[in-house]
Amino acid sequence: MRGLFLLIASGLLAACGDSFDRADASDIDAVNAGQPLYAEHCASCHGENLQGQPDWRVAKADGTLPAPPHDDSGHTWHHADALLFDYTQQGGQAIAPEGFTSAMPAFGASLSDSEIWAVLSFIKSKWSLQAQIRQGRMNQ
Ligand code: HEC
Repeated sequence: MRGLFLLIASGLLAACGDSFDRADASDIDAVNAGQPLYAEHCASCHGENLQGQPDWRVAKADGTLPAPPHDDSGHTWHHADALLFDYTQQGGQAIAPEGFTSAMPAFGASLSDSEIWAVLSFIKSKWSLQAQIRQGRMNQ
């Protein structure tokens, strides 16, 4: 009985614990934790299959850009982890150059650091091995 309790308790800890501190596509727990977070918080703009919004390179009438894909066809993998984290936590407006209006919201108030790393781990897990390797070099 006690063993069962411990098993459940450690399972809960693993599920809720603030335990991810990097974007790691090979960390199955992080990827699994990130998947539902992506569906809930990111898919409405970046697409259920990370495909982005149509014509994402063309600015809209209000001057903002549509959401880019997060898969290989976009440019997410051209950026180092630290920038992806900051962009997600602080939003596009805080990071973008002056004069640029960003439609990318800040998630610092709704997602913990660990949750942001989990989402980024999930996104990374969708990249080709080649994109993962090239992006990995950027992190060094
Ligand atoms: C309301 C729409 C919207 C939602 C929801 C959204 N984004 Fe974005 N995101 C954008 C737009 C638009 C851009 C394009 C860059 C810009 O305009 O600043 C962007 C750009 C980005 C970028 C930088 C560009 C790149 O591909 O490297 C990252 C990283 C990013 N989003 C991550 C996320 C993550 C993670 C989530 C969910 C937690 C999310 N976004 C949810 C609209 C959104």
